[in-house]
Amino acid sequence: MSALSVKHLIGIKYLTIDDIELIFKTTDSFKEVINRPIKKVPTLRDTTVVNLFFENSTRTRISFELAEKRLSADIVNFSASSSSVSKGETLIDTVNNILAMKVDMVVMRHPSPGAPMFLARHINASIINAGDGTHEHPTQALLDAYSIREKLGTVKGKKVCIIGDIKHSRVALSNIYCLQKLGAEVMLVGPPTLMPTYIEALGVKVEYNLKKALEWCDVANVLRIQLERQDIKYFPSLREYALYFGINKSLLDSLKKEIVIMHPGPINRGVEISSDVADSEHSIILNQVENGVAVRMATLFLLSGRKE
Ligand code: NCD
Repeated sequence: MSALSVKHLIGIKYLTIDDIELIFKTTDSFKEVINRPIKKVPTLRDTTVVNLFFENSTRTRISFELAEKRLSADIVNFSASSSSVSKGETLIDTVNNILAMKVDMVVMRHPSPGAPMFLARHINASIINAGDGTHEHPTQALLDAYSIREKLGTVKGKKVCIIGDIKHSRVALSNIYCLQKLGAEVMLVGPPTLMPTYIEALGVKVEYNLKKALEWCDVANVLRIQLERQDIKYFPSLREYALYFGINKSLLDSLKKEIVIMHPGPINRGVEISSDVADSEHSIILNQVENGVAVRMATLFLLSGRKE
C-alpha cells in the first residue's frame, strides 16, 4: 500500500491498520532524514501549509512547523488571539479567507471537539487535527505508538496503562484507538471522577489502584491534569492527586520489573510525575518529542498526495 485511505487526519478512529503501518514505514525513512547533517528534503516544495492554532500549544506547534520546514513547505502561522477571530469572524469565514490565498493543507488545533471534521466537510484543503478539545489528538497517538514500537520492537501484545485525567484528555482517546488497532491491551487509571462513564464499552480495562496497574503494564503513559478544561473540582488537591496517582521513583522501585514511562508533555513535575522518574532511563519522553517531528513529516507527506 502506498496511499492512505483518508484525505484528512481527523482522528485515529478513521484510520485503518494499513494506514497506521504506512505512516510508521514512512516515519522510519523521515527519521533517517532528520538525523542527517542536512535535514531538509524538497518533498513539499510549492505546497503551502497553514498552522491554525485556536488554543495554546508549544511542542505540537513547533513540531509541526519543524516537520513542514524539513519538507521545504511554505508555512503560514495563525494564532487566534492575534487574528480577526477576536473580532467575531466565524471559523468558516476565517478559513475560506485563508484558502482564497491558495493554501494546500491546514493543521488545526481548536478547543471545540469536532471543529476539524466540520472544516473538512466545508473546504477543499487537507486537514490535520492537531488536537480538538477533549476529543482526539491523532499525531500524538501515532508518535506514542511509534515510540513504543521503537523501544519494545512491537506494539502488538503489549500492555499499556494510560494514567490520569482520562475524562478531559484527547491524548487518551486517540491512544486507546491507536493502541487497540495495533493489538495492544489498554488499561485506564485515575480517580473515578476523572474516568468517563461507560468507558469500558471501548474494550479497555479500568483500574483505580495505581500500584496494581503498574504491576500489570509494560508501558505507562502519564497524562497531565487538564485544569484548564475542568469547570468543577474533581479531586481535593494536587497534593492528594500526587499521593495517589503520581509516579515516583520509590513506586517504580517497588515493582518487580522495569516499565517504560511516557508523557505527551507538558509535564507538571511533582504532580503526575516526579523529576527523578521523568529524567530517568525508564523515560522515553524526549524520544517521543523527536519521533513527533518524523511522524508529522510522514503524515504531511502522505496527505499531500505527492509521490516522490
Ligand atoms: C497534549 C495536548 O495538548 O493535548 N500536549 C501536547 O500535544 N503536547 C497534552 C496536554 O496538554 O496535557
